[in-house]
Amino acid sequence: MHYDLIIEGGTCVLPWGEVATGIGVRDGRIASLSAAATDEAGERIDARGLHVLPGLIDPHVHLRDPGDASIESIPTGTRAAALGGITTVFDMPNTAPAITDAEMLSWKQQYASRESWTDFAMYVGATRGNTEALGDYERLDGVCAVKLFAGSSTGDLMIEDDDGIERVMQLGRRRIAFHSEDEYRLQERRRLFRSGDPYDSHRLWRDEECAFLGTRRIMALARRTRRAAHILHVSTAEELEYLQAFRDIATVEVLVNHLTQVAPECYERLAGLAVMNPPIRDARHFEASWRAVRDGTVDTIGSDHAPHSLAAKAKPWPDCPAGLPGVQTLVPLMLDHVNAGRLSLGRMVDLMAAGPARVYDLVGKGRIAAGNDADFTLVDLRARRRIENSWIASPIGWTPFDGMTVTGWPVATIVRGEAVMRDDEILGAPRGRLAHFAA
Ligand code: DOR
Ligand code: ZN
Repeated sequence: MHYDLIIEGGTCVLPWGEVATGIGVRDGRIASLSAAATDEAGERIDARGLHVLPGLIDPHVHLRDPGDASIESIPTGTRAAALGGITTVFDMPNTAPAITDAEMLSWKQQYASRESWTDFAMYVGATRGNTEALGDYERLDGVCAVKLFAGSSTGDLMIEDDDGIERVMQLGRRRIAFHSEDEYRLQERRRLFRSGDPYDSHRLWRDEECAFLGTRRIMALARRTRRAAHILHVSTAEELEYLQAFRDIATVEVLVNHLTQVAPECYERLAGLAVMNPPIRDARHFEASWRAVRDGTVDTIGSDHAPHSLAAKAKPWPDCPAGLPGVQTLVPLMLDHVNAGRLSLGRMVDLMAAGPARVYDLVGKGRIAAGNDADFTLVDLRARRRIENSWIASPIGWTPFDGMTVTGWPVATIVRGEAVMRDDEILGAPRGRLAHFAA
């Protein structure tokens, strides 16, 4: 047998368990799960001592493109993703201008196809003005879903009322991704802003009920319209329990931030660098998030990579923008959680590869199987490394996890059979392609 590439000697995390085997790749696809030392190959990767995972996906990034390239852009953000062991990103539409019409979608399809280091998918933002066209937009190449902000966050994309949300749900048919915080409650609670303890004010303002109320409203509409919903960054114990009764219609994302940081400690240590929407909450919600990872409630884990400049984040809240970078640190942090016994490696792969594929109907990725794209994340589960600002490839140059030592590190990122990153080095040229979704 002749392959373009054989990855040999590693422990492969297959859908049915861990197996020590060689993987043969031909024409960018997985050709064999039993490639042998006697088979010929154009290139061989020695994975002894490493785990070979299906290419890990970050289904929630904000790469700010178009926008301010000194903060982030598609080339810099996907470079950061590749350095962090991510093979495909799903990029959010709240850019400047936003991705809400055919012209911007077409621009982004072409631009990402030229400049992305990883494979790439994009959300299309829902607005009152484009609602009638969303059923067409959601089927365009590389579009993973409609994103609907039901509560205000960075940018001005929002449809906050039931009628507006229901209209979006009535048109088109693919799963819709929701930012679920109730805008009316957010507005009403603005009077609670206090000075003196600005970061606590953020958390008290966008309280648990803002998120829970938003999710209850969306679930009522999803049931009525029979339209599937993906609730992004679920952050409360209440929602996680509630959503178990909606498995027929709803899927659940939890962020690595909510699984790694706890209030009030994070605000005392990081001040504005811990401010995001929905906020990092107290230990009760942190524990509930981990329970939901372990009991199967959670379908996907994302970073919600949302870079802002250090200067902006140093402003006292409410002038401090919400959002934290994270695409580059997602895999190291999750591997550290695996090593700490908080979840198994198999569950991590389920959440970060198979999960996004299932939720968004992504085809040809998400599991190591013959015929699928040859996307792999090779990890050294024993490597101990310090996460440092100097390692961060995004132009903003900071991470809330600076100084944290983790066990477990991505050592190679392989996209359709070509190594994009090995041992902290970016290789070759941007070769990312648009991901494919079942219509
Ligand atoms: O904290 C956040 N930052 N939450 C969001 O919903 C948007 C994001 C951003 O784009 O900055
Ligand atoms: Zn987000």
